Amino acid sequence: MPKKKNNIVLYFSMFGKNEKIADIISMEFNALKMRIAASGWGFLKIPLHMIKGVLERDVVMIPNKNLKDYNTIFIGGPVWAGKPCPALMDTIKKVRIKDKNVVLFLTATGDFGNAENIMRDAVRKKGAKVKALFKFFTSENEKEIKKKLKEIGIEIY
Ligand SMILES: Cc1cc2nc3c(=O)[nH]c(=O)nc-3n(C[C@H](O)[C@H](O)[C@H](O)COP(=O)(O)O)c2cc1C
Repeated sequence: MPKKKNNIVLYFSMFGKNEKIADIISMEFNALKMRIAASGWGFLKIPLHMIKGVLERDVVMIPNKNLKDYNTIFIGGPVWAGKPCPALMDTIKKVRIKDKNVVLFLTATGDFGNAENIMRDAVRKKGAKVKALFKFFTSENEKEIKKKLKEIGIEIY
């Protein structure tokens, strides 16, 4: 009997774009959605998050760090100041992804800065295989997002 698909999408979203993308990935690749939450309230949320990132303090709590039961692990979120936002970097630091197939995604309004390389390097350092990295503009709609996901033609089991 063919093995059941067992994928997961870990994502951070402050304003909803990455939430939408995670929904699409979840549907297209039969992946369980896991939202990464960062602490902080209202207008303090962003500066607090940035400061914690710079000081390398805990930004996020990951409920299930052990991802060994998943075949493909999607990890994504927004670009902040030309880098993956601190919640994303902290997530990569905390999850066990050694030898795992990982697909990354980033969103930005226009300038991805060096976020792609920073994220890819961090994931590779953890011993995971980066199968693909998707860059989506905040303005891209569902149709365009689905098209991009299909174009790269990643094989997800
Ligand atoms: C603090 C902060 C910094 C940002 N820096 C950048 C940036 O350097 N380049 C860019 O194109 N967009 C930047 N953005 C825009 C976000 O990357 C973009 O709107 C993203 O799609 C939001 O994702 P979300 O809705 O899932 O939170 C920034 C947004 C915030 C809040």
